[in-house]
Amino acid sequence: MSVTPLICPSILASDFAALGAEVKAIAAAGADFVHIDVMDGHFVPNITIGPDVVKALRPHTDLPFDCHLMISPVDSFLEAFREAGADLISVHPEAGPHLHRTLKYIRQLGAKAGVVLNPATPVDVLDWVLDDIDLVLVMSVNPGFGGQGFIDSQLRKIEVIRKKLDAASNPAILQVDGGVNAQNAAACVAAGATALVAGTAVFRGGPAAYAANIKALKGL
Ligand code: DX5
Ligand code: ZN
Repeated sequence: MSVTPLICPSILASDFAALGAEVKAIAAAGADFVHIDVMDGHFVPNITIGPDVVKALRPHTDLPFDCHLMISPVDSFLEAFREAGADLISVHPEAGPHLHRTLKYIRQLGAKAGVVLNPATPVDVLDWVLDDIDLVLVMSVNPGFGGQGFIDSQLRKIEVIRKKLDAASNPAILQVDGGVNAQNAAACVAAGATALVAGTAVFRGGPAAYAANIKALKGL
């Protein structure tokens, strides 16, 4: 029997002029986390959300804030995102010189720590930080933009990471992000993902469609 995945809507695809209402709407529609894509125009070719926006959103929902940091250098901003209300903070190994130190610091701040693998990033970057992570995020697009097509090779990467986590009896969340939709969600879960990030596939159709969109992603 397959697991029902956690659904983490990426607010990158929401109406930025109504962010508070959008976050409330996805919470009411059955979302599990709020996925917040933070981009700096340097690590990735786009600029999005900073800690002040995260802080402004915090009173609008009790859902965990899952902050995906696509910024470099990343360390100097970790405390600000935690103070703004981030519950999970995920970083790319390429975003700083000392991944292990960064992950330790995230946990020290009281947040859960995640590592994000770009499509070309090898999985063995995880080998010596397995005890220091609460989440692994597999990017199924190159980071920077919503609305891109799912890169199928990443399903095999999810399988390899699933095996690695299981072999270590590691309960980390295995999340996939980019181009996830109701058509490929089941394949992600079959490969071993336990959480799906989706922007376009959740927010398309506006608030009236969110509950059905989330249900479809859960395979219900
Ligand atoms: C890409 C972001 C994703 C993206 C997902 O850099 O990390 O979270 O917004 O959007 P969709 O689901 O539209 O690919
Ligand atoms: Zn993301």
